[in-house]
Amino acid sequence: MIATRLAPHVNLQGRNFLDLAELDPTEFHALLRLARELKGDASVATRSLLRGRTLAMLFEKPSLRTRVSFEVAVTSLGGQALFASGSEMLVGTRESPEDAARVLSRYVDAVVVRTHEHEPLERFAAAASVPVINGLSALYHPCQAFADVLTMEERFGSVEGLRVVYLGDARNNVATSLAQAVVLLGGSMRFAAPLSHRPSEATLERLAELGASTGGRARAFTDPVRALRGADVVYTDVWTSMGEEHLHERNAAMLLPYAVTERSFAYTAPHAVFMHCLPAHRGQEVAPAVIDGARSLVFDQAENRLHAQRALLVALITDGKGTLL
Ligand code: CP
Repeated sequence: MIATRLAPHVNLQGRNFLDLAELDPTEFHALLRLARELKGDASVATRSLLRGRTLAMLFEKPSLRTRVSFEVAVTSLGGQALFASGSEMLVGTRESPEDAARVLSRYVDAVVVRTHEHEPLERFAAAASVPVINGLSALYHPCQAFADVLTMEERFGSVEGLRVVYLGDARNNVATSLAQAVVLLGGSMRFAAPLSHRPSEATLERLAELGASTGGRARAFTDPVRALRGADVVYTDVWTSMGEEHLHERNAAMLLPYAVTERSFAYTAPHAVFMHCLPAHRGQEVAPAVIDGARSLVFDQAENRLHAQRALLVALITDGKGTLL
């Protein structure tokens, strides 16, 4: 056992992290507490928490933040990362996701996977005997949402009761995971999007179920002004997700009324902040004056990817206080 000063916050030892809906609110609060604690902790014991442990990272798609923050996270805890992408990326290409998962489980202690489709990731995780983390799939981006709500808590103290508005393509993975995180913590999520880009009824129903015990709720609006009234957080993402570049012109025309500009903030609470998962396209989904202005938290969010993922690795690979699997 490696002793640390960490309190026994959360034990997700051996679990996967594919979708935030797999967490209950108590577990999510505990993960957030652990992230806050690790953010301020550079002790020798913490730097050894994952000593001798290896994280494999399999990426089908490009990444700056997710790749580098996971590599720095595992290294800062005493472990090491192995990265494979493109033709080396094994999930569902050279062999089945199941075979790749069984082989990697014999070599490493956890795996981060970034895929185009969600289904191969589910199959990979079901066959793996080590924790599997979703580093972004077609449906979800849970690591991003974890860092996002950590950032909101730092600014506002709590997500409970916050009004978070997401403008743009409200069907995408970032919007879905953000909404899950907000309702799990008792916040109010508003999507502002044209009918063509609003979340499905199934997604809205699932969000209602997730918020049933926390008071969290989610609603979809077509009128951006109605959605923005009284908002505490204004969030957007690129209008065209990776792999959908051929749809960019169509999306840009439909989503133009949902661009975040200085004018958008006329309808929000006076203290409202701007958030974006990055990378951003200035002059499209967000005006330069907003993303580069005093209200913008985008670089705090990017930094918090590191702190959230350190907590995630400790929670999945140890018992949350330093006892390794
Ligand atoms: N926000 C995010 O996931 O960034 P990357 O695609 O660079 O990892």
